[in-house]
Amino acid sequence: MSTTQQYLDQLHTDFTFSTAQLTGIVELFLHDMKEGLQGQASSLAMLPSFLTKPDGQETGIFLALDFGGTNVRVMLIKLTGQGNYTILKRQDVPLSNQSKNYDFTSRTSTAAELFGFLADQLAQLTQPGKTYLLGHTFSFPCRQTGTNQAILLHWTKEINTSGVVGHNVVDLLHQALADRGLSNIQPVTITNDTVSALLAAAYQDRYADIGSICGTGHNTCYLEPKPPRFSHPTYINIESGNFDKISGNKYDALLDQYSSRPGAGKLEKMCAGRYIGELLRLVLLDVVTQGLLFNGNCPVFLQTVGALSGWDVAVLQDAAARPEQISLWLAKHSSPTAVSLDDREVLQHSACLIATRSARLAAASYAAILKHIDPTLNSLHTISIDGSLYEKLPGYADTISQTLQELVGVKAGQIKCVLTKDGSGIGAAIAAATTKKNRGSQITT
Ligand code: GLC
Repeated sequence: MSTTQQYLDQLHTDFTFSTAQLTGIVELFLHDMKEGLQGQASSLAMLPSFLTKPDGQETGIFLALDFGGTNVRVMLIKLTGQGNYTILKRQDVPLSNQSKNYDFTSRTSTAAELFGFLADQLAQLTQPGKTYLLGHTFSFPCRQTGTNQAILLHWTKEINTSGVVGHNVVDLLHQALADRGLSNIQPVTITNDTVSALLAAAYQDRYADIGSICGTGHNTCYLEPKPPRFSHPTYINIESGNFDKISGNKYDALLDQYSSRPGAGKLEKMCAGRYIGELLRLVLLDVVTQGLLFNGNCPVFLQTVGALSGWDVAVLQDAAARPEQISLWLAKHSSPTAVSLDDREVLQHSACLIATRSARLAAASYAAILKHIDPTLNSLHTISIDGSLYEKLPGYADTISQTLQELVGVKAGQIKCVLTKDGSGIGAAIAAATTKKNRGSQITT
């Protein structure tokens, strides 16, 4: 049996990528980006959005529908130009709620039920008789043939609603709106959440050219200056969560085995909030089994698939500064509260390793994109990031910045990472405004 310290050292090896390893990952990512752009077989889908930069002068009132997989958020947003906006109304509703007995994300739910639910949420923010132009953020991989056409290629983030894959999501929403007599709500654009997050930043910052989500899912887009088959620059949704050239450890392999799409979404499974809690559970279960945590007594929650989330990673990671968090955390999981110093160390260290790896891998993908669009880093670049990990995980944002510095060296000063809170919703309104400039301003509230 190994000692706690040996085990922690092994974990460190399992979860840590050195600068040299990350530099290798940058090259592999860049290679897959180029192959994907050219339409060759690649782990990176490189999906064109058909949208280009906003000029900051878009104005009007627009409805935004933000469908990310955990919640649906509807917003009424007033864009006033020069990068300014006001959120007039907003509502957040979970897509699954056990106490209310619904789950629109499971295989047993149909497309009509899911999109009906979305239409119902929109109805609550609108008034009959008024026309609303709607920007829809749909945070899943879609093949687009225009700014308002999007065929869902496959679900990610463990969502499985029936009858959506292979269908045009815009048609499904149209149908649900029509069924409810809501023809005053007119969907005009559909965008990935990374594109929306980038649009929201680009509305006020002309250097914003990379958009990323570090939340339930993980993905990044960027402004491609020379997209094949396009005459103008357009945002490309990389679907970077599917990048598959990083070797994982035994915990990654276990998680992958019983995920809904084994073998797919490898980077996302290492980075995203939907998965890092489960990775933590698998690690802790292993340590308990070796007798190196909780005296070898395994609490029920560690035996329960999906019992831990990104929130647990955040709480344990922070426990170095606030040790009392650990007892509260155990109490929340209805477990005995006696913990030794070694236990604390294992819990905190495991969470830190998982969170740090996530941030460093995200940074490596940003470094690859920067290398593609500006190999000598002559220009300034703003990376717009939205999502709970970036916003709430202690040290996550700093680790991204430090890793970028490690990877690009002295030119790191050219790069700025910003949190674009609510970017998925605001960007949807901006997307709608870029295609129908000013038509939204007919609406008054
Ligand atoms: C998943 C989706 C992707 C989305 C990301 C963040 O990776 O496939 O489209 O951007 O989650 O929500």
